[in-house]
Amino acid sequence: MTRVLVRDLAQLVSTAGTGAPVRAAALGTVDVVEDAYVLCDDGRVTGVGRMRDLEPLDGDVVEVDARGRCALPGLVDCHTHAAFIGDRVEEFALRAAGAGYEELHAAGGGILSTVRATRAASEDVLTARVGAHARAMLEHGTTTWEGKSGYGLDRDTELAQLRAVRASGGVPTWLGAHAVPPEFESADEYLDFALAEVLPEAANLAEAADVFLERGAFDAGQAGRYLRRCQEAGLALRLHGDQFTESGAIPLAVELGARSIDHLEATGEAGVRALAGSDVVGVLLPVSALFLGRPMPPARALVDAGAAVALATDFNPGSAFCESLPFACSLACTQLRLSPAEALSACTVNAAHVLGRADRKGRLAPGYDADLLLLDVPDWRYLAYYLAGDLGIEAFVGAERALP
Ligand code: NIG
Ligand code: FE
Repeated sequence: MTRVLVRDLAQLVSTAGTGAPVRAAALGTVDVVEDAYVLCDDGRVTGVGRMRDLEPLDGDVVEVDARGRCALPGLVDCHTHAAFIGDRVEEFALRAAGAGYEELHAAGGGILSTVRATRAASEDVLTARVGAHARAMLEHGTTTWEGKSGYGLDRDTELAQLRAVRASGGVPTWLGAHAVPPEFESADEYLDFALAEVLPEAANLAEAADVFLERGAFDAGQAGRYLRRCQEAGLALRLHGDQFTESGAIPLAVELGARSIDHLEATGEAGVRALAGSDVVGVLLPVSALFLGRPMPPARALVDAGAAVALATDFNPGSAFCESLPFACSLACTQLRLSPAEALSACTVNAAHVLGRADRKGRLAPGYDADLLLLDVPDWRYLAYYLAGDLGIEAFVGAERALP
């Protein structure tokens, strides 16, 4: 048995309670223990508490001296598009000069330019790139992450993306309905192909399916057809919805019992109420709103109405070229008016729930996987407070040192 003791922590923080997702007041409730320890056995947390209550330990124990540091649960990024090749720096410069994201997409750039680059690469090259992004995420404290396909939109490249995410330790989501590739006349014709030719194999590789329900991409009828077939194939459901327009994504997500609806920058009061009355998690992506100069999602209204929310980076080359969940936490507190505790719950326990892993991930408590971060800061809230700062992160995954 491998036993690890992280000792003399200035603070240990974990989201309170045991259930998931957490909402309303529970979202902002965290347990903070000062002068604390964490004990791990065989990759799981077996004890947390105050140093003065630590019983003498028998046998071999690997001790980690954490004086002056804070321990947090490893962060969970439940929404990334990490499997891509190339960049969109030209597009970034064009947008800085006034071009619109949807306009570039309609002209065959945007997502479709990343599709061209990703199709042209070998699976080995793609896998190496995804691995590099996974490493960068870890350097920002992410120990569990989701990665979508959606930059292949043909059979081989979509499946290669899902394998590359899995090979790099991510949770794969089939974003088979991200855009209509140029070789198809219509969205319906493309969906016929994707559901017949890609879904059977994608369902063996992915855990969830996702769709971009938006003008210029897929409408509610097309999204519903795609998602129902994916659900029948055993996949959990996610939606990109209400990013630019309210086009029926929330009613569809609620009707189908989707795990999440992500973006919500255009969501109005009725949408907030509908989401709050459901079990669908609203995934907040403030980095993407910032990067595109769009309005922020109505996060405060969602939380106050009782909706379950998560927080993610949306890491991708076009709308959110950012792997940092701490930066997303800073935006959550400064732009979305969430508290540091709400931001932490949103990118740990609730994000783990979106990925179907809330029984093992997202809390620093007995029974959970020993995925933990040590931050070289005096108060855990520096996670959000130290905007784009160096938190001096050390990370353990299953009690094994993963960083540095
Ligand atoms: O979540 N909006 C759709 N998909 C991604 C962006 C993908 C891209 O621009 O490459 C998003 O923002
Ligand atoms: Fe996205």
